[in-house]
Amino acid sequence: MRVLVTGGAGYIGSVVAAQLVAAGHEVTVLDDLSTGFAGAVPPGATFVKGTLRDCAAEVLSDGIEAVLHFAAKSLVGESVADPAKYWSNNLGGTLALLDAMREMRIRTIIFSSTAAVYGEPERTPVEETDPTRPTSPYGASKLAVDTALTEFCRLYGFGAVSLRYFNVAGAQQAADGTWLGERHNPETHLIPNVLAAVTEGRRVQIFGDDYPTPDGTCIRDYIHVTDLADAHLRALGACRPGQHSVYNLGNGAGFSVREVIEVCREVTGRDIATDVTGRRAGDPAVLVASSAKIQSDLGWRASRDLRAMAADAWQFTQARGHSLAGGSGGSSPRGMPSRGGLGGSSPRASSERAGQQR
Ligand code: UFG
Repeated sequence: MRVLVTGGAGYIGSVVAAQLVAAGHEVTVLDDLSTGFAGAVPPGATFVKGTLRDCAAEVLSDGIEAVLHFAAKSLVGESVADPAKYWSNNLGGTLALLDAMREMRIRTIIFSSTAAVYGEPERTPVEETDPTRPTSPYGASKLAVDTALTEFCRLYGFGAVSLRYFNVAGAQQAADGTWLGERHNPETHLIPNVLAAVTEGRRVQIFGDDYPTPDGTCIRDYIHVTDLADAHLRALGACRPGQHSVYNLGNGAGFSVREVIEVCREVTGRDIATDVTGRRAGDPAVLVASSAKIQSDLGWRASRDLRAMAADAWQFTQARGHSLAGGSGGSSPRGMPSRGGLGGSSPRASSERAGQQR
């Protein structure tokens, strides 16, 4: 199938794009590189640099049959500081994409949603039918897209699946040896932060140890990015006209911040010094998903544990360190020379094409 992956130069989008290529799909990545990296676009995918508003219509007109939509701003804290940026990018950008799809009669879409739509859950594990009361503009903007998708399914016969991720972690190696992993600036997520602290020889901050949990630190449901990508491929095969399905994606098991740090200690073989600081605003004590619905509907189940996530993220961190040290600019953390250029592995992928569209 010919598919468009928006945000395919980002962490999760690049891993899904790699799995789509491996499964034999013809993949075009559209990414404005505001937070992504051209070197993360997997070999075999065509890369177009641009925004949804400027480029979606043209890219879709190139025979695209389905869309996997990841392009979004995704920092909870930043969304509180600059809500308009989140509404404009996450809702406005998506509406531009959906309108272009409607005009082109492309009606299949997989949407990258989030646990943040639930806000402070009343119970765990969280089920898809639980109340959605987002506590940040990030979560609210993602929930608004879920609502729009329901409408587009009802009114225009779209077939959509929203996947609500809990805590995504780990990394995956692409066909050319590139490690595709998490690289945000600033990095706020626990596992990459802990591993960066190990390589930089600094201390890890634990945001609060006075929560009502066994060791006092927050509990989260971690899911390996490779398992997450597998769920997207299954969802793609399950889209039905007129139907919007929503699924949680997690492991169903929670780990505390201290337990995560302990696993990182085991995987890296290094001591990790910690300081307990105050709570981070907006952190729920426990966030664990029920993934029973996707298990029963699509036969999906997470198969990689926290240790595998930490080990793969550590491989990525080390490969990235090598590529930075080697002066490749850090776009291709593969421990090998950078591919260079934009998506250079595909005949149609080039900075020229990006140039035409700007
Ligand atoms: N934490 C630390 N120290 C750090 C980083 C994180 O103690 O240096 C703690 C956090 O306070 C939290 C836990 O580790 O208790 C996990 O934090 P992350 O930032 O890794 O992940 P979040 O649980 O905050 O984020 C997840 C998803 C978001 C989603 C959010 C909704 O990644 O996409 O849940 O609450 F929006």
